[in-house]
Amino acid sequence: MSTAPHNVQAYRASLLHFHADPAFHGDAHAWHEDGLLVVEDGRVKAAGDYAALIGSLPDGVTPHDYRGQLITPGFIDTHLHYPQTDMIASPSEGLLPWLETYTFPTERRFEDPAHARATAEFFLDELLRCGTTTAVVYCTVHPQSVDAFFEASEARNLRMVAGKVLMDRNCPDFLRDCEGSVGDSAALIEKWHKRGRQLYAITPRFAPTSTDAQLRATAELAKAWPDTFIQTHVSENKDECKWVGELHPQSRSYLDVYERFGLMRPRALFGHCIWLDDEDFARMAATGSAVAVCPTSNLFLGSGLFDFEKADGANALLSLGTDVGAGTSFSILQTMNEAYKVARLKGSYLPALRMFYLATLGAARAMDLEGTIGSFVPGAEADFIVLDPKATPLLARRTAQLESLEELLFALALLGDDRAVKATYSGGALVHRRSA
Ligand code: GUN
Ligand code: ZN
Repeated sequence: MSTAPHNVQAYRASLLHFHADPAFHGDAHAWHEDGLLVVEDGRVKAAGDYAALIGSLPDGVTPHDYRGQLITPGFIDTHLHYPQTDMIASPSEGLLPWLETYTFPTERRFEDPAHARATAEFFLDELLRCGTTTAVVYCTVHPQSVDAFFEASEARNLRMVAGKVLMDRNCPDFLRDCEGSVGDSAALIEKWHKRGRQLYAITPRFAPTSTDAQLRATAELAKAWPDTFIQTHVSENKDECKWVGELHPQSRSYLDVYERFGLMRPRALFGHCIWLDDEDFARMAATGSAVAVCPTSNLFLGSGLFDFEKADGANALLSLGTDVGAGTSFSILQTMNEAYKVARLKGSYLPALRMFYLATLGAARAMDLEGTIGSFVPGAEADFIVLDPKATPLLARRTAQLESLEELLFALALLGDDRAVKATYSGGALVHRRSA
Protein backbone atom coordinates (compact mmCIF):
# COMPACT_ATOMS: atom_id res chain seq x y z
CA MET A 1 0.00 0.00 0.00
CA SER A 2 1.34 3.45 -0.91
CA THR A 3 1.52 6.10 1.79
CA ALA A 4 0.02 9.54 1.19
CA PRO A 5 2.53 12.09 -0.01
CA HIS A 6 2.07 15.41 1.81
CA ASN A 7 1.95 17.25 -1.45
CA VAL A 8 -1.40 15.90 -2.73
CA GLN A 9 -4.65 17.63 -1.82
CA ALA A 10 -8.13 17.11 -3.21
CA TYR A 11 -11.26 19.30 -3.18
CA ARG A 12 -14.81 18.05 -3.67
CA ALA A 13 -17.21 20.63 -5.16
CA SER A 14 -18.93 21.50 -8.41
CA LEU A 15 -16.14 22.29 -10.89
CA LEU A 16 -16.23 24.69 -13.84
CA HIS A 17 -13.47 25.53 -16.25
CA PHE A 18 -13.03 26.21 -19.96
CA HIS A 19 -11.11 24.79 -22.89
CA ALA A 20 -12.53 27.20 -25.55
CA ASP A 21 -14.39 30.49 -25.94
CA PRO A 22 -18.14 29.88 -25.54
CA ALA A 23 -18.84 32.76 -27.97
CA PHE A 24 -17.34 30.69 -30.78
CA HIS A 25 -17.64 27.04 -29.68
CA GLY A 26 -20.70 25.12 -28.53
CA ASP A 27 -18.58 22.79 -26.41
CA ALA A 28 -16.34 25.23 -24.55
CA HIS A 29 -16.55 24.32 -20.87
CA ALA A 30 -16.21 21.39 -18.52
CA TRP A 31 -18.79 21.13 -15.74
CA HIS A 32 -18.65 18.47 -13.03
CA GLU A 33 -21.59 18.88 -10.71
CA ASP A 34 -20.08 16.48 -8.17
CA GLY A 35 -16.45 17.09 -9.03
CA LEU A 36 -13.01 16.54 -7.62
CA LEU A 37 -9.98 18.80 -8.09
CA VAL A 38 -6.70 17.03 -7.35
CA VAL A 39 -3.60 19.14 -6.69
CA GLU A 40 -0.02 17.94 -6.44
CA ASP A 41 2.98 20.15 -5.64
CA GLY A 42 0.93 23.30 -6.23
CA ARG A 43 -0.25 22.21 -9.68
CA VAL A 44 -3.42 20.64 -11.01
CA LYS A 45 -3.10 16.88 -11.27
CA ALA A 46 -6.66 16.15 -12.36
CA ALA A 47 -10.13 17.70 -12.51
CA GLY A 48 -13.21 15.61 -13.15
CA ASP A 49 -16.13 13.72 -11.69
CA TYR A 50 -15.75 12.75 -8.05
CA ALA A 51 -16.85 9.17 -8.76
CA ALA A 52 -14.23 8.78 -11.50
CA LEU A 53 -11.31 10.27 -9.58
CA ILE A 54 -11.80 9.35 -5.93
CA GLY A 55 -10.26 5.90 -6.44
CA SER A 56 -7.07 7.44 -7.82
CA LEU A 57 -6.19 9.40 -4.67
CA PRO A 58 -3.20 8.14 -2.73
CA ASP A 59 -4.14 6.33 0.48
CA GLY A 60 -4.67 8.71 3.35
CA VAL A 61 -5.68 11.72 1.23
CA THR A 62 -9.16 12.84 2.24
CA PRO A 63 -10.84 15.39 -0.03
CA HIS A 64 -11.67 18.75 1.43
CA ASP A 65 -15.46 18.87 1.41
CA TYR A 66 -16.76 21.93 -0.46
CA ARG A 67 -19.99 20.27 -1.61
CA GLY A 68 -22.67 22.86 -2.41
CA GLN A 69 -19.96 25.29 -3.58
CA LEU A 70 -18.50 26.02 -7.00
CA ILE A 71 -14.76 25.82 -7.72
CA THR A 72 -13.42 27.76 -10.72
CA PRO A 73 -9.93 28.91 -11.71
CA GLY A 74 -8.97 32.10 -9.85
CA PHE A 75 -10.08 35.29 -11.55
CA ILE A 76 -7.57 37.22 -13.65
CA ASP A 77 -7.79 41.03 -13.64
CA THR A 78 -5.85 42.35 -16.63
CA HIS A 79 -5.84 46.08 -15.81
CA LEU A 80 -5.60 47.98 -12.55
CA HIS A 81 -3.44 50.42 -10.60
CA TYR A 82 -2.31 49.47 -7.08
CA PRO A 83 -1.22 53.05 -6.22
CA GLN A 84 -4.79 54.23 -6.83
CA THR A 85 -6.25 52.06 -4.07
CA ASP A 86 -6.64 54.97 -1.66
CA MET A 87 -8.37 57.22 -4.19
CA ILE A 88 -11.01 54.77 -5.43
CA ALA A 89 -14.42 56.49 -5.69
CA SER A 90 -13.04 60.00 -6.17
CA PRO A 91 -15.57 62.03 -8.16
CA SER A 92 -14.58 63.87 -11.31
CA GLU A 93 -16.06 65.06 -14.57
CA GLY A 94 -13.92 62.80 -16.73
CA LEU A 95 -10.58 61.17 -17.29
CA LEU A 96 -8.28 64.16 -17.79
CA PRO A 97 -9.43 66.25 -14.76
CA TRP A 98 -9.50 63.05 -12.67
CA LEU A 99 -5.83 62.39 -13.51
CA GLU A 100 -4.82 65.97 -12.59
CA THR A 101 -6.90 66.31 -9.45
CA TYR A 102 -6.57 62.93 -7.81
CA THR A 103 -4.28 60.54 -9.61
CA PHE A 104 -0.99 62.38 -9.90
CA PRO A 105 -0.95 63.70 -6.28
CA THR A 106 -1.89 60.21 -5.01
CA GLU A 107 0.85 58.52 -7.06
CA ARG A 108 3.44 60.99 -5.74
CA ARG A 109 3.27 59.29 -2.34
CA PHE A 110 4.85 56.12 -3.80
CA GLU A 111 8.28 57.67 -3.66
CA ASP A 112 8.07 56.44 -0.05
CA PRO A 113 8.83 52.67 -0.05
CA ALA A 114 7.03 52.13 3.27
CA HIS A 115 3.83 53.67 1.93
CA ALA A 116 4.21 51.63 -1.26
CA ARG A 117 4.65 48.36 0.63
CA ALA A 118 1.74 48.98 3.00
CA THR A 119 -0.54 49.84 0.09
CA ALA A 120 0.62 46.78 -1.87
CA GLU A 121 -0.24 44.53 1.10
CA PHE A 122 -3.74 45.99 1.41
CA PHE A 123 -4.22 45.77 -2.36
CA LEU A 124 -3.23 42.08 -2.48
CA ASP A 125 -5.50 41.30 0.47
CA GLU A 126 -8.36 42.93 -1.38
CA LEU A 127 -7.67 41.04 -4.63
CA LEU A 128 -7.60 37.71 -2.81
CA ARG A 129 -10.81 38.53 -0.90
CA CYS A 130 -12.41 39.04 -4.33
CA GLY A 131 -11.03 35.80 -5.77
CA THR A 132 -8.47 37.43 -8.07
CA THR A 133 -5.31 35.32 -8.14
CA THR A 134 -3.50 37.07 -11.00
CA ALA A 135 -3.53 40.77 -11.88
CA VAL A 136 -1.74 42.96 -14.40
CA VAL A 137 -0.80 45.98 -12.36
CA TYR A 138 0.43 49.52 -12.92
CA CYS A 139 2.88 50.80 -10.32
CA THR A 140 4.04 54.46 -10.39
CA VAL A 141 7.08 56.03 -12.05
CA HIS A 142 9.08 55.29 -8.90
CA PRO A 143 11.18 52.10 -9.15
CA GLN A 144 10.68 51.62 -5.41
CA SER A 145 6.93 51.25 -6.07
CA VAL A 146 7.75 48.26 -8.30
CA ASP A 147 10.08 46.67 -5.75
CA ALA A 148 7.47 47.12 -3.03
CA PHE A 149 4.76 45.48 -5.11
CA PHE A 150 6.81 42.48 -6.24
CA GLU A 151 8.28 41.94 -2.77
CA ALA A 152 4.74 41.76 -1.35
CA SER A 153 3.56 39.44 -4.14
CA GLU A 154 6.63 37.20 -3.96
CA ALA A 155 6.23 36.79 -0.20
CA ARG A 156 2.77 35.30 -0.88
CA ASN A 157 3.92 33.30 -3.92
CA LEU A 158 1.29 34.94 -6.15
CA ARG A 159 1.38 34.97 -9.96
CA MET A 160 1.42 38.74 -10.62
CA VAL A 161 2.41 41.01 -13.50
CA ALA A 162 3.49 44.61 -12.86
CA GLY A 163 5.76 47.39 -14.03
CA LYS A 164 7.06 50.91 -13.63
CA VAL A 165 4.94 53.62 -15.24
CA LEU A 166 6.79 55.57 -17.95
CA MET A 167 5.98 59.28 -18.37
CA ASP A 168 8.27 62.02 -19.63
CA ARG A 169 5.85 64.76 -20.66
CA ASN A 170 2.43 66.24 -19.89
CA CYS A 171 2.71 65.27 -16.26
CA PRO A 172 3.90 66.98 -13.05
CA ASP A 173 7.68 67.31 -12.59
CA PHE A 174 7.50 65.11 -9.50
CA LEU A 175 6.34 62.14 -11.64
CA ARG A 176 8.46 62.72 -14.74
CA ASP A 177 11.13 60.44 -16.21
CA CYS A 178 14.14 62.17 -17.83
CA GLU A 179 13.16 62.99 -21.40
CA GLY A 180 13.50 59.99 -23.69
CA SER A 181 14.51 57.70 -20.83
CA VAL A 182 12.86 54.55 -19.48
CA GLY A 183 14.57 55.06 -16.13
CA ASP A 184 15.41 51.86 -14.29
CA SER A 185 13.11 49.67 -16.40
CA ALA A 186 15.89 47.37 -17.70
CA ALA A 187 17.22 46.78 -14.20
CA LEU A 188 13.71 46.10 -12.92
CA ILE A 189 13.11 43.59 -15.72
CA GLU A 190 16.41 41.84 -14.92
CA LYS A 191 15.49 41.76 -11.26
CA TRP A 192 11.84 40.71 -11.37
CA HIS A 193 10.80 39.18 -14.70
CA LYS A 194 10.27 35.42 -14.17
CA ARG A 195 11.65 35.57 -10.63
CA GLY A 196 9.45 32.91 -9.01
CA ARG A 197 5.94 33.71 -10.21
CA GLN A 198 6.56 37.41 -10.90
CA LEU A 199 6.35 38.77 -14.46
CA TYR A 200 7.25 42.23 -15.73
CA ALA A 201 5.06 44.61 -17.75
CA ILE A 202 6.66 47.48 -19.66
CA THR A 203 4.24 50.30 -18.82
CA PRO A 204 4.07 53.51 -20.87
CA ARG A 205 1.09 55.21 -19.17
CA PHE A 206 -0.55 56.38 -22.43
CA ALA A 207 0.53 58.15 -25.61
CA PRO A 208 0.03 61.73 -24.30
CA THR A 209 2.53 61.31 -21.45
CA SER A 210 5.44 59.90 -23.49
CA THR A 211 7.63 61.73 -25.99
CA ASP A 212 8.43 59.98 -29.25
CA ALA A 213 11.91 59.34 -27.84
CA GLN A 214 10.46 57.58 -24.79
CA LEU A 215 8.11 55.48 -26.94
CA ARG A 216 11.11 54.44 -29.06
CA ALA A 217 13.08 53.48 -25.95
CA THR A 218 10.04 51.60 -24.67
CA ALA A 219 9.81 49.61 -27.90
CA GLU A 220 13.51 48.74 -27.63
CA LEU A 221 12.89 47.24 -24.19
CA ALA A 222 9.92 45.30 -25.54
CA LYS A 223 12.08 43.90 -28.33
CA ALA A 224 15.01 43.07 -26.08
CA TRP A 225 12.71 41.13 -23.69
CA PRO A 226 10.06 39.67 -26.03
CA ASP A 227 8.34 37.64 -23.32
CA THR A 228 7.71 40.63 -21.06
CA PHE A 229 4.26 42.19 -21.07
CA ILE A 230 3.40 45.66 -22.39
CA GLN A 231 0.50 47.55 -20.86
CA THR A 232 -0.99 50.93 -21.68
CA HIS A 233 -4.26 52.80 -22.14
CA VAL A 234 -5.89 53.46 -25.51
CA SER A 235 -9.05 55.18 -26.80
CA GLU A 236 -10.70 55.51 -23.42
CA ASN A 237 -12.18 58.98 -23.56
CA LYS A 238 -13.15 61.34 -26.39
CA ASP A 239 -11.09 64.30 -25.11
CA GLU A 240 -8.07 62.02 -24.76
CA CYS A 241 -8.56 60.70 -28.34
CA LYS A 242 -8.74 64.26 -29.68
CA TRP A 243 -5.55 65.16 -27.80
CA VAL A 244 -3.70 62.17 -29.26
CA GLY A 245 -4.91 63.13 -32.72
CA GLU A 246 -3.31 66.56 -32.22
CA LEU A 247 -0.07 65.11 -30.85
CA HIS A 248 0.25 62.47 -33.60
CA PRO A 249 -1.43 63.86 -36.74
CA GLN A 250 0.47 61.40 -38.93
CA SER A 251 -1.11 58.35 -37.27
CA ARG A 252 -4.26 56.81 -38.71
CA SER A 253 -5.71 56.32 -35.24
CA TYR A 254 -4.79 56.43 -31.55
CA LEU A 255 -3.98 52.71 -31.59
CA ASP A 256 -1.85 53.25 -34.67
CA VAL A 257 0.50 55.45 -32.60
CA TYR A 258 1.44 52.37 -30.59
CA GLU A 259 1.72 50.18 -33.67
CA ARG A 260 4.03 52.65 -35.41
CA PHE A 261 6.34 52.55 -32.43
CA GLY A 262 6.36 48.74 -32.38
CA LEU A 263 4.28 48.29 -29.24
CA MET A 264 1.70 45.85 -30.58
CA ARG A 265 2.60 42.20 -30.13
CA PRO A 266 1.56 39.13 -28.13
CA ARG A 267 1.51 40.02 -24.42
CA ALA A 268 0.62 43.66 -25.16
CA LEU A 269 -2.49 44.56 -23.16
CA PHE A 270 -4.49 47.65 -24.10
CA GLY A 271 -6.86 49.05 -21.49
CA HIS A 272 -10.33 50.33 -22.52
CA CYS A 273 -10.43 50.30 -26.39
CA ILE A 274 -13.78 52.12 -26.31
CA TRP A 275 -13.37 54.19 -29.47
CA LEU A 276 -11.47 51.73 -31.69
CA ASP A 277 -12.77 51.27 -35.24
CA ASP A 278 -12.96 48.04 -37.25
CA GLU A 279 -9.45 48.43 -38.61
CA ASP A 280 -8.07 48.96 -35.10
CA PHE A 281 -9.75 45.77 -33.88
CA ALA A 282 -8.38 43.93 -36.91
CA ARG A 283 -4.87 45.16 -35.95
CA MET A 284 -5.42 43.98 -32.37
CA ALA A 285 -6.22 40.49 -33.65
CA ALA A 286 -3.48 40.41 -36.31
CA THR A 287 -0.74 41.40 -33.86
CA GLY A 288 -1.89 39.10 -31.02
CA SER A 289 -2.46 42.14 -28.80
CA ALA A 290 -5.28 41.96 -26.25
CA VAL A 291 -8.04 44.18 -24.89
CA ALA A 292 -8.62 44.76 -21.18
CA VAL A 293 -12.31 45.71 -20.99
CA CYS A 294 -12.90 47.94 -17.93
CA PRO A 295 -16.66 48.55 -17.59
CA THR A 296 -16.87 49.88 -14.01
CA SER A 297 -14.23 52.48 -14.85
CA ASN A 298 -15.83 53.41 -18.18
CA LEU A 299 -19.22 53.94 -16.57
CA PHE A 300 -17.73 55.81 -13.60
CA LEU A 301 -15.74 58.30 -15.71
CA GLY A 302 -18.41 58.44 -18.42
CA SER A 303 -15.82 57.28 -20.94
CA GLY A 304 -18.11 55.17 -23.11
CA LEU A 305 -19.45 51.67 -23.74
CA PHE A 306 -17.20 48.87 -24.99
CA ASP A 307 -18.46 47.23 -28.20
CA PHE A 308 -18.22 43.47 -27.63
CA GLU A 309 -19.82 42.68 -30.99
CA LYS A 310 -17.30 44.75 -32.95
CA ALA A 311 -14.40 43.20 -31.03
CA ASP A 312 -15.76 39.68 -31.56
CA GLY A 313 -16.28 40.45 -35.24
CA ALA A 314 -12.51 40.86 -35.51
CA ASN A 315 -11.80 37.90 -33.20
CA ALA A 316 -9.72 40.14 -30.91
CA LEU A 317 -8.38 38.70 -27.66
CA LEU A 318 -10.55 39.97 -24.78
CA SER A 319 -10.24 40.02 -21.01
CA LEU A 320 -11.73 41.92 -18.05
CA GLY A 321 -10.05 44.59 -15.95
CA THR A 322 -11.31 46.44 -12.89
CA ASP A 323 -9.12 49.50 -13.55
CA VAL A 324 -9.09 50.39 -9.86
CA GLY A 325 -8.98 53.30 -8.90
CA ALA A 326 -11.11 54.64 -11.81
CA GLY A 327 -12.87 51.29 -11.55
CA THR A 328 -15.25 51.22 -8.63
CA SER A 329 -14.76 47.65 -7.39
CA PHE A 330 -11.97 45.12 -6.91
CA SER A 331 -14.50 42.39 -7.62
CA ILE A 332 -14.43 40.66 -11.00
CA LEU A 333 -18.00 39.48 -10.27
CA GLN A 334 -19.08 43.12 -10.04
CA THR A 335 -17.04 43.84 -13.18
CA MET A 336 -19.04 41.12 -14.97
CA ASN A 337 -22.24 42.68 -13.68
CA GLU A 338 -21.39 45.98 -15.35
CA ALA A 339 -19.92 44.36 -18.48
CA TYR A 340 -23.26 42.60 -18.95
CA LYS A 341 -25.15 45.91 -18.76
CA VAL A 342 -22.69 47.66 -21.08
CA ALA A 343 -23.27 44.91 -23.65
CA ARG A 344 -27.04 45.33 -23.28
CA LEU A 345 -26.79 49.08 -23.85
CA LYS A 346 -24.81 48.39 -27.05
CA GLY A 347 -27.58 46.05 -28.18
CA SER A 348 -25.57 42.87 -27.67
CA TYR A 349 -25.75 40.07 -25.14
CA LEU A 350 -23.01 38.68 -22.92
CA PRO A 351 -23.89 35.32 -21.36
CA ALA A 352 -22.55 34.62 -17.88
CA LEU A 353 -20.67 31.61 -19.23
CA ARG A 354 -18.76 33.95 -21.57
CA MET A 355 -17.99 36.33 -18.71
CA PHE A 356 -16.54 33.51 -16.58
CA TYR A 357 -14.47 32.48 -19.60
CA LEU A 358 -13.18 36.03 -20.06
CA ALA A 359 -12.18 36.19 -16.39
CA THR A 360 -10.27 32.88 -16.52
CA LEU A 361 -9.10 31.13 -19.70
CA GLY A 362 -9.86 34.16 -21.89
CA ALA A 363 -7.53 36.30 -19.79
CA ALA A 364 -4.87 33.59 -19.75
CA ARG A 365 -5.02 33.49 -23.55
CA ALA A 366 -4.93 37.30 -23.74
CA MET A 367 -1.74 37.07 -21.66
CA ASP A 368 -0.23 34.15 -23.57
CA LEU A 369 -0.30 32.12 -20.34
CA GLU A 370 -2.70 29.34 -21.36
CA GLY A 371 -1.69 26.11 -19.62
CA THR A 372 -0.11 28.07 -16.76
CA ILE A 373 -3.14 29.83 -15.28
CA GLY A 374 -6.85 30.18 -15.99
CA SER A 375 -7.90 26.53 -16.28
CA PHE A 376 -7.63 23.10 -14.67
CA VAL A 377 -5.63 21.33 -17.37
CA PRO A 378 -3.07 18.98 -15.78
CA GLY A 379 0.08 20.91 -14.93
CA ALA A 380 -1.64 24.30 -14.58
CA GLU A 381 -0.82 26.25 -11.43
CA ALA A 382 -3.42 25.47 -8.77
CA ASP A 383 -4.88 28.97 -8.46
CA PHE A 384 -8.56 28.49 -7.76
CA ILE A 385 -11.51 29.89 -5.85
CA VAL A 386 -14.47 28.52 -3.98
CA LEU A 387 -17.68 30.42 -4.74
CA ASP A 388 -20.68 30.15 -2.43
CA PRO A 389 -24.05 30.33 -4.22
CA LYS A 390 -25.67 30.95 -0.82
CA ALA A 391 -23.25 33.67 0.32
CA THR A 392 -25.98 36.22 1.00
CA PRO A 393 -29.67 35.78 1.83
CA LEU A 394 -30.63 37.10 -1.60
CA LEU A 395 -28.17 34.86 -3.46
CA ALA A 396 -29.41 31.88 -1.43
CA ARG A 397 -33.02 32.68 -2.28
CA ARG A 398 -32.28 33.16 -5.97
CA THR A 399 -30.04 30.10 -6.36
CA ALA A 400 -32.54 27.87 -4.54
CA GLN A 401 -34.52 27.78 -7.79
CA LEU A 402 -32.10 27.35 -10.67
CA GLU A 403 -32.90 25.91 -14.08
CA SER A 404 -29.38 25.87 -15.53
CA LEU A 405 -25.66 26.46 -15.01
CA GLU A 406 -26.09 29.75 -16.88
CA GLU A 407 -28.60 30.90 -14.28
CA LEU A 408 -26.23 30.00 -11.44
CA LEU A 409 -23.33 31.92 -13.00
CA PHE A 410 -25.58 34.84 -13.87
CA ALA A 411 -26.82 35.11 -10.29
CA LEU A 412 -23.23 35.04 -8.99
CA ALA A 413 -22.16 37.74 -11.48
CA LEU A 414 -25.14 40.03 -10.89
CA LEU A 415 -25.58 39.57 -7.14
CA GLY A 416 -22.10 38.48 -6.02
CA ASP A 417 -18.99 40.30 -4.88
CA ASP A 418 -16.26 39.53 -2.31
CA ARG A 419 -18.94 37.97 -0.07
CA ALA A 420 -19.41 35.16 -2.59
CA VAL A 421 -15.74 34.14 -2.41
CA LYS A 422 -15.51 31.57 0.36
CA ALA A 423 -11.85 30.72 -0.19
CA THR A 424 -8.97 31.57 -2.51
CA TYR A 425 -6.03 29.25 -3.25
CA SER A 426 -2.81 30.22 -4.98
CA GLY A 427 -0.23 27.65 -6.04
CA GLY A 428 -2.23 25.10 -4.05
CA ALA A 429 -2.01 27.13 -0.81
CA LEU A 430 -4.97 28.70 0.97
CA VAL A 431 -4.44 32.48 0.75
CA HIS A 432 -7.88 33.72 1.79
CA ARG A 433 -10.75 32.23 3.73
CA ARG A 434 -13.91 34.22 4.33
CA SER A 435 -14.80 34.27 7.99
CA ALA A 436 -18.33 33.24 8.90
N1 GUN B 1 -5.11 57.02 -18.79
C1 GUN B 1 -3.87 57.37 -18.41
N2 GUN B 1 -3.66 57.08 -17.11
C2 GUN B 1 -4.79 56.55 -16.66
C3 GUN B 1 -5.20 56.04 -15.38
O1 GUN B 1 -4.46 56.04 -14.41
N3 GUN B 1 -6.47 55.56 -15.31
C4 GUN B 1 -7.31 55.53 -16.37
N4 GUN B 1 -8.53 55.03 -16.23
N5 GUN B 1 -6.95 56.00 -17.57
C5 GUN B 1 -5.72 56.49 -17.71
ZN1 ZN C 1 -5.98 52.21 -16.07
